[in-house]
Amino acid sequence: MKVQDIGSGYDREPSTYNKDLTEVGRGTPMGELMRRYWHPIGLAADAGATPRAVRALGEDLILFRDGQGRPGLVTARCCHRGTTLYYGRVEERGIRCCYHGWLFDVEGHCLEQPCEPGGGRIRDRIRQPWYPVQERYGLIFAYMGPPAKQPVLPRYECLEVLPPGEMIEADDSSIGSGGGVIVPCNWLQHWENIPDVFHVPILHGAFSGVQFVAQMGIMPKVRWELEQTGVKTISVRELDDGRVHYRITEATLPTLRVVPNPRVAEYCGVESLGWVLPIDDTHFRIYVAGRVKAKGDLGKKRSRMNGKLWDELSEEEHQKFPGDYEAQVGQGPITLHSDEHLATSDQGVAMARRLLQRQLDAIAAGRDPAGVSFDPAAPPVKFEAGNYIMDKSDAKVAELLNA
Ligand code: FES
Ligand SMILES: [Fe+2]
Repeated sequence: MKVQDIGSGYDREPSTYNKDLTEVGRGTPMGELMRRYWHPIGLAADAGATPRAVRALGEDLILFRDGQGRPGLVTARCCHRGTTLYYGRVEERGIRCCYHGWLFDVEGHCLEQPCEPGGGRIRDRIRQPWYPVQERYGLIFAYMGPPAKQPVLPRYECLEVLPPGEMIEADDSSIGSGGGVIVPCNWLQHWENIPDVFHVPILHGAFSGVQFVAQMGIMPKVRWELEQTGVKTISVRELDDGRVHYRITEATLPTLRVVPNPRVAEYCGVESLGWVLPIDDTHFRIYVAGRVKAKGDLGKKRSRMNGKLWDELSEEEHQKFPGDYEAQVGQGPITLHSDEHLATSDQGVAMARRLLQRQLDAIAAGRDPAGVSFDPAAPPVKFEAGNYIMDKSDAKVAELLNA
């Protein structure tokens, strides 16, 4: 082969992706791992008197709230003859299928079969597949895993301890247009973007102008730490006044985004949590719960590019001012791991993948994954994430600056 032929696109090997880390359907390794944790599948207000279609971990589900106020989550296909309960009617005791009128409660028990003799003498043997749900922080969380392994729904200190005048707000803002957006790519592309902090000064600080605040455009010194339940990223930026912006972000099992405000409105611990919900292998969405001073504040954190919101941009502006949506969806429906060239600045990405692989190995060996608790009295989970102002002389800072 002549030297100038090396690198020709013609010669490349077929591209592949890591299925174990990305695919979330039933029976897949990651699908089983994800099913060992609670995931937000809607805002509390999404559970109402009109059946709502929800897709999570590749399963089509129906969310509703019965007349007694209990939220319910059942599979969409009616267990009688398979029409969808999306066209069902929510009643006092549950959801009634439109086709032959079977009525199911929030735990899938079949309460009525109006076409059957005696109202269905063996209806007790029928169960519409269902999943447990719980409401917290304005979100509805579902557990879709083995019943015997159902962990406690975690509490998080940053959402439990509220300074005076603050409240918790939830929303389904996302990268992109914000508000209910379904992002057409694999969930891991978003989650591993959290330890990928070097994209911040480039994508958000320079390439598309200043998307957050100018100081986030400073090239940081970075250290990553692989912990039991997450990957912690410490970024240090030297400010003009001689002090240092010390920022910690965390990507935590299973899909948590523990990222302090990139607009650095104040120096404090993390104000909000995000959960990346894998809708299926090639779509995700994000739910957020955070501390706010007034209702609607969470939605105000949306970025502007070229002075506009994402959904106001023309195609040409999307090209000129790309953000997280463009970069992550731009990696394709499932990024091709075989084609990557991970570099020094990708250590955090590699750690995030290693963390997930460890949990897959734990499950394969019959152990519980990290970060699940079966103790209802367990204290709230604490995070170190936050924006802090520090002195250069601080030992932790000096160590990073001199590295
Ligand atoms: S298909 Fe639902 S009641 Fe028959
Ligand atoms: Fe980003």
